[in-house]
Amino acid sequence: MARFEDPQDALFKAINTSLSYDRRLYPEDIEGSIAHAEMLAAKHIITAEDLEQIKNGMVQVKKELDAGVFVFNDDDEDIHMAIERRLTEIAGDAGAKLHTARSRNDQVATAVTLFTKRRAQVASAKLAKLLDTIYKLADAHRDWAMPGYTHLQRAQSVYLGHHLLAYFWMFNRDHERFAQVVEASNTLPLGAGALAGANFETDRHMVADRLGFESVAPNSMDAVANRDFVLDYLSAAATCATHLSRIGAEIVLWSSEEFGFAEVSDGFASGSSLMPQKKNPDAAELLRGKAPRVLASLTTLHGVMHGLPLTYNKDMQEDKEALFDAVDTLELCLDAATGMLEGIVFHRERMADAAGDQMLAAVDIADLLVRKGVPFREAHGIVGSLVRYAVDTGKQLSELTDAELSKFSDQLGDDYRALLSDGGWIESKVSRGGTSSTSLDAQFKLARAQLR
Ligand code: ARG
Repeated sequence: MARFEDPQDALFKAINTSLSYDRRLYPEDIEGSIAHAEMLAAKHIITAEDLEQIKNGMVQVKKELDAGVFVFNDDDEDIHMAIERRLTEIAGDAGAKLHTARSRNDQVATAVTLFTKRRAQVASAKLAKLLDTIYKLADAHRDWAMPGYTHLQRAQSVYLGHHLLAYFWMFNRDHERFAQVVEASNTLPLGAGALAGANFETDRHMVADRLGFESVAPNSMDAVANRDFVLDYLSAAATCATHLSRIGAEIVLWSSEEFGFAEVSDGFASGSSLMPQKKNPDAAELLRGKAPRVLASLTTLHGVMHGLPLTYNKDMQEDKEALFDAVDTLELCLDAATGMLEGIVFHRERMADAAGDQMLAAVDIADLLVRKGVPFREAHGIVGSLVRYAVDTGKQLSELTDAELSKFSDQLGDDYRALLSDGGWIESKVSRGGTSSTSLDAQFKLARAQLR
């Protein structure tokens, strides 16, 4: 570099380089460069021969990178410099003209935008597969009764199909969030130059068209300083990873001897080196354990961007490892979750036994009194005392005699016994979005519409 007399210190190089991780941006960098060169030629800023040589050179560079035989130099600070350096070795002066009307600032922003957009599309596709799997699983277990929980205490009975569809809606929102990330990544930064624009009459719309962007950034300073789309990806990814951790955590619980509700397939479990009886749901545990990494990437980038004066600052190079780790973690977790759920088996008896716990009908008994004119709060108190009495005397609610019941209310008669004997307190949840079969049918219909 002409500006400097002394060489860079080894420690400076060590802190400054991003090559070890940003090399994975090479396809996006090369595409961006070719689109830029085509525009330069169309605007007669470089010649048609220059363009030809740049394109041929880039074919060669790409080949070397694809094959893993590209030789990096000690002076290659990042993948963008490495590619341009190699191109110039191959294409000579034409290669050296590529950087006309461009800066590494808008170049990097463009590569990262393209990358983010594509990974958001990949996340959407993987989520679509997961949604399909969850839908099918829910459909196959539409009428399997189980307890629903609050505070991890048995609360009210639901159908397993209903419980699984709760996850469908969670992941469906994630799917929508990634569609928004694609939108946030649809604006071209290239053409902003270092920060102020270029000294040439460029055609940014032409470049945008070639690269599949919907618009061009309206402000050159914002264009090179913007990493919102990465934050948006990381935010969507963090929320999605949190959702994955919740389904993972439930599968861990359900796989325990204590619950006995579910068993993952052998392909998604490990054994113990010591205890031969063990079958561990590791994949589910790791859905739980990996989620915080994705959130950490989000907080990392918020930390990096916070307080940065306009425009580009080298801090922003720290966007990449956060993004890449989140991409890799999320994509793996989505695939693993789908694979694990495809092979999971539920245990109907164990769930039904737990759902048959008469205490889960407490609200239904209270509502029985409400229908007879007892104000809900009063009914709540009556049933609370009744439950307390049953627990103290070690009796099931259905085992209480008429005489015992009359101590709490004179309105607990035949319908009370009928309610407890037919276990009909799932089918009574007829409100929209509730767990009764009719409400659930309507919900499946909505879910099907989302899948299409
Ligand atoms: N590797 C850097 C990054 O990813 C390139 C930006 C270069 N711009 C600059 N002015 N040094 O952010």
